[in-house]
Amino acid sequence: MSERTAAGGEPVEAAPPGAPDRNLALDLVRVTEAAALAAGRWIGRGDKESADQAAVDAMRLMLQTVTMDGLVVIGEGEKDKAPMLYNGEPVGNGRPPHVDVAVDPLEGTRLTALGRPNAISVVAVAERGTVFFPGAAVYMDKIAGGPEVADAIDITAPPEENVRRVAKAKGMEPEEVSVVVLDRDRHEELIAALRRVGAKVMLITDGDVAPAIAASEEGTGVDLLMGVGGTPEGVISAAALKCLGGAMQGRLWPRDDEERAKLVEAGYDVDRVLSTDDLVSGQDVFVAATGVTTGALLQGVRYTDEGAVTDSLVMRSRSGTVRRIEARHAFEKLMKFSTIPYR
Ligand code: FBP
Repeated sequence: MSERTAAGGEPVEAAPPGAPDRNLALDLVRVTEAAALAAGRWIGRGDKESADQAAVDAMRLMLQTVTMDGLVVIGEGEKDKAPMLYNGEPVGNGRPPHVDVAVDPLEGTRLTALGRPNAISVVAVAERGTVFFPGAAVYMDKIAGGPEVADAIDITAPPEENVRRVAKAKGMEPEEVSVVVLDRDRHEELIAALRRVGAKVMLITDGDVAPAIAASEEGTGVDLLMGVGGTPEGVISAAALKCLGGAMQGRLWPRDDEERAKLVEAGYDVDRVLSTDDLVSGQDVFVAATGVTTGALLQGVRYTDEGAVTDSLVMRSRSGTVRRIEARHAFEKLMKFSTIPYR
């Protein structure tokens, strides 16, 4: 019997001919739900480290239950600095499929600590060797949009030009285009250029993954994400956009000459425009994301008498299926067999 090549593959005997194979994202959503629930206990408590640690611990525990031979490519950092979910850490139960794993157990640690919108937990998985490894590149310049603008955006063009192109592609006026930008001094020029062309600039304090994904979802009020943010977050956003038919372009953004030299020495071309496919080249990409605090993309963790309700997005690039899963969690029952501190 031949080996299944798709990343979602169970042993080939498991799927009869012609039947869709396993959708790994349906396992991954349990992982992001657990991390979101663990982080949820820390919403508004002013302690971003504890929030992150809780999400990491829960995510790591749940990842062990997933049938996959996963290797963390985008994680919490290098092994000596991150005790868990570090780059290079094996995750899953070790059985095929062999996959790369990109995790952000808590994207928006500060958002969570301060009770602000748009914190999420997210995991992406793709075939082994297909997820871009950013090395020492902490930051990346990014532009991201949905399916209608995927062919229109160009990170090498001025911001004004991108807004005009997006307006044309979406059949709207530049004044109607909403662009999400991280509120940072480094974006002074970008913000001025976007306002000059008449676009609405939505400034966020943290968390550029949720708005990058939201740009591909109707009714979120987000048309574009632009500006310099974390490189790992850029790769994870690209995985989600690949599932949603949107597009991400990125360019590594070294902070100084020393960082630039380090990247060049390691073989990176810092001027290269990285497309969605450069960032995630796999053809079978799975992404799950669960809201921690309510934002444009997802509802956050909402507490009930019995436990909590979570809202998640579950996506697969090969099938193009996008699910929204609302889950009700009963803490008393869960805590009888799980060590995750839900309360
Ligand atoms: P957290 O590490 O607190 O979760 O912050 C994540 C984030 O806001 C990303 O969404 C964003 O890409 C990046 O940090 C921006 O980095 P900086 O705050 O250094 O500008």
